[in-house]
Amino acid sequence: MHSFGYRANALLTFAVTILALMCAMASFSDNLSHPSPSSSVQVLNVNWFQKQPNGNDEVSLTLNISADLQSLFTWNTKQVFVFLAAEYETPKNSLNQISLWDGIIASKEHAKFWTHTSNKYRFIDQGSNLRGKEFNLTLHWHVMPKTGKMFADKLVMSGYHLPKEYR
Ligand SMILES: *[C@@H]1O[C@H](CO)[C@@H](O)[C@H](O)[C@H]1NC(C)=O
Ligand SMILES: *[C@@H]1O[C@H](CO)[C@@H](O)[C@H](O)[C@H]1NC(C)=O
Ligand SMILES: *[C@@H]1O[C@H](CO)[C@@H](O)[C@H](O)[C@H]1NC(C)=O
Repeated sequence: MHSFGYRANALLTFAVTILALMCAMASFSDNLSHPSPSSSVQVLNVNWFQKQPNGNDEVSLTLNISADLQSLFTWNTKQVFVFLAAEYETPKNSLNQISLWDGIIASKEHAKFWTHTSNKYRFIDQGSNLRGKEFNLTLHWHVMPKTGKMFADKLVMSGYHLPKEYR
């Protein structure tokens, strides 16, 4: 005899199995897409460039950040976290990474954008290495899916350099 409880339990097990299967398919189909985001960043202005009293260099930049991250969005994408980092080499560290700007993109409609902004976070070197320094601007992103694994990638834009003198 099948009691109500037994049937409810069987139904629940069935539902959970289907759900698990759907989640697996969702993250699997994500795996099959090969997104191709693009980005370009222009340094429109060096607002100021100084050595602080403690000896660390600091620079303020005005940037035009444009990106098309629409291909990162599938039906399984919850949101995308992006940040733009200045990356450069110094005698002490082979990689210095400084986040200059970040944002959260909640939908595909907002994934193609440009923004004219000065650096949101301070660009400070642990020393006085920035004069004439070549650096990369790297756009990093973390895709947060509705179900399945988060994944991250980046796009390196190289060939930027800072002025030779403080100003
Ligand atoms: C997803 O892709 C990664 C690397 O491309 C691979 O190692 C992994 O086995 C794939 N997963 C599935 C479920 O296909
Ligand atoms: C920023 O870049 C975008 C795309 O390259 C361009 O359409 C826009 O006019 C630029 N804005 C400024 C203020 O330079
Ligand atoms: C900057 O980008 C170039 C070209 O992609 C790369 O060879 C170099 O290692 C990068 N520099 C840093 C500090 O990441």
